[in-house]
Amino acid sequence: MKQTRILAALLISSFCIHVAAQQRNIDQKIDSILRLMTVDEKIGQLNLYAGRMNPTGPITMRENDEDEIRRGHVGMVFNIVGAKRTREIQRIAVEESRLKIPLLIGFDVVHGYRTIFPIPLGESASWDLDLMKRTAKASADEASAMGIHWTFAPMVDVCHDARWGRIMEGGGEDPYLVSLITKAKVEGYQGADLKEMGSVMACAKHFAAYGATIDGRDYNTADISDATLRNIYLPPFKAAVESGVSTLMAGYHELNGIPTSASSYLMTDILRNEWKFDGFVVSDWGSIRETATHGYAKDRKDAAMKSFNAGLDVDMESSAYISHLKELTSEGRVSLENIENSVRKVLRMKYLTGVMDNPYRYCNQQREDTIILKKEYLKLAREAACKSMVLLKNKNQVLPLSENLKSIAVIGPLADSKKDMSGSWSKSCDSKDMITLLEALTTQIGSTTKIKYEKGCDVQGDDRSGFAAAIKVASKSDVILVAMGESKELSGEASSRSDISLPGIQKELLKELKKLNRPIVLILFNGRPLSIPWEADNVDAILEAWFPGNEAGNALADVLFGRFNPQGKLTVSFPRSVGQVPIFYNHKNTGRPEGGGEKFFVTRYIDNSNQPLFPFGYGLSYTTFEYSEIKLEAPQLTYDGILHATVKVKNTGKYKGVETIQLYIRDLVASSTRPVKELKHFQKVELTPGEEKEVKFEIKEEDLRFWNNNKQYFSEPGKFQLFIGSDSESVKKAEFELL
Ligand code: GLC
Repeated sequence: MKQTRILAALLISSFCIHVAAQQRNIDQKIDSILRLMTVDEKIGQLNLYAGRMNPTGPITMRENDEDEIRRGHVGMVFNIVGAKRTREIQRIAVEESRLKIPLLIGFDVVHGYRTIFPIPLGESASWDLDLMKRTAKASADEASAMGIHWTFAPMVDVCHDARWGRIMEGGGEDPYLVSLITKAKVEGYQGADLKEMGSVMACAKHFAAYGATIDGRDYNTADISDATLRNIYLPPFKAAVESGVSTLMAGYHELNGIPTSASSYLMTDILRNEWKFDGFVVSDWGSIRETATHGYAKDRKDAAMKSFNAGLDVDMESSAYISHLKELTSEGRVSLENIENSVRKVLRMKYLTGVMDNPYRYCNQQREDTIILKKEYLKLAREAACKSMVLLKNKNQVLPLSENLKSIAVIGPLADSKKDMSGSWSKSCDSKDMITLLEALTTQIGSTTKIKYEKGCDVQGDDRSGFAAAIKVASKSDVILVAMGESKELSGEASSRSDISLPGIQKELLKELKKLNRPIVLILFNGRPLSIPWEADNVDAILEAWFPGNEAGNALADVLFGRFNPQGKLTVSFPRSVGQVPIFYNHKNTGRPEGGGEKFFVTRYIDNSNQPLFPFGYGLSYTTFEYSEIKLEAPQLTYDGILHATVKVKNTGKYKGVETIQLYIRDLVASSTRPVKELKHFQKVELTPGEEKEVKFEIKEEDLRFWNNNKQYFSEPGKFQLFIGSDSESVKKAEFELL
């Protein structure tokens, strides 16, 4: 045993010595390059231009980016893809510029490159961290095969607002879960070493609290307390930094009066001084220039000074740095030393990714041809799509469907819409690769079951001309599968909605189908929680499919016919109405909560419930699970101790299933009020019919800590409630005391 420990210590120390030597070696190389660089060339490394492929922002017309690269005025580009095209642009930098410094090449690989996985909000509903790491790794492999070194992902913005179009891009409303997902994604994208073939730099965005804008709109205002910032919105970014993320991206929004792209509180005080982050921060598209539009800077030059001095290293598409930093240094308003420090960070990433040693490492046509759409990645996409789907309702076990059904009606605008299956942030995919619900059903059971399809209506608009045909085919079928929801354009950037019900006349068509008194299974394709109270009351089953990606149809068939027993759990609350937004499970108790004796003078709506339609953590299975009461090994937890909490969970149904057992904690009395519940642990357990397992959780003092508004992070002795269950509302309860 002792020898093992000595060997381990020797191995660790030799690894640390190797890393330190590698670091010194890189630093020496960077010093030698810096000595050769002009001020313009130094600033050029901090300049990020967009190519014209797959535009993801407002295009700035410039003379000639290639000449800028030749002059050494561009350090990195994005939205230029493919082994051939990236080789061409890299050649200009490496062969036609004075110092021949290679470019970093970036792209938004948010949920896959050509093999598209479920949108992140959907994938988060799998609560499967290993899966999310594997899909990030597969995405990175495809991206690298297309010449990309750097993905602008993961988006780690916690969000409580279903109106926000970009809620589709994150991991939902809980900071603990989004932090774990962030760690998985960063490790998946970056691998163990950025020099590994198939690894790409990650970029945690948008720093910070972009999901907290006051009205769910992009580019807008977030105004929150420091405690809320640190308890809710910062944890995923801290998790990213602790996971070794290479870069962070600032945001378009303002936080407490300061545009995040010019916030020294965020980018220097917190990111560098508290978290010791040593990567670089990139602005969002034009966000440096927009600090002037916010009314925080006088003009683009003032914006350049304020953003750079706040700690923002790289300028995406403002041309603010390349136009003004040199002048600002000569005026003594920006220090050349700080510019050199930012250049060091950029050059360090170019060394760590291997780009400096081999600029064309990812410009390999043969690798592109063999990796893109690999069978194993499509298989992974099907697994991820199955695991992301959430069964919201299943009255009288209408699901799973029997494969011996005589006829199935497939109705709705999303039953056969290839373009929508990828969801937003998937510009790199080819919609012809997408498998729709109708295609999968036709291929898999079309020979034995009569599949009758009618679109019935569009996602938006008021054209009812398709209703009659839809009703006709539905009236003669054993079951009606209705594929409705949002088109992919209705979520994503600059796509917030003030009305989060089913768009257009889809609900009207559903009401007509309801009159047929046949089983209706509603399959939802959407990028945000939808307010669907009538639908939830009136259909027999609801399967939340999100936007499942390439394997949408195959995964849906797997779930609908019981080949895969749904296990997804919501990571966002589904509101009953948009009037409840923002709505989230980890809310405060207030001074007059509902549920006591008083019925009138309590916190409530007079026209609706306070409760969500479907709560955080909710999701059904084809089987059922029964929970025992919680067993605590002791009624107290000491400061440096561990308290074990145990429950028994039994599969009381007739299908094998996976249950995500969730553990929440409430701090009953504290020097700052605490939420009624906070997710602190979860475990996924597979059980066969009749099987029972004992599930044990460890609770430590650190689980009980919180930030107050004086930037203090601590726990306080006192009574706590402990909840364990299948979602944030269906829980068993126990109490303990922190001594
Ligand atoms: C967009 C997004 C950001 C993305 C960037 C580059 O406007 O806000 O998330 O990475 O521009 O496409």
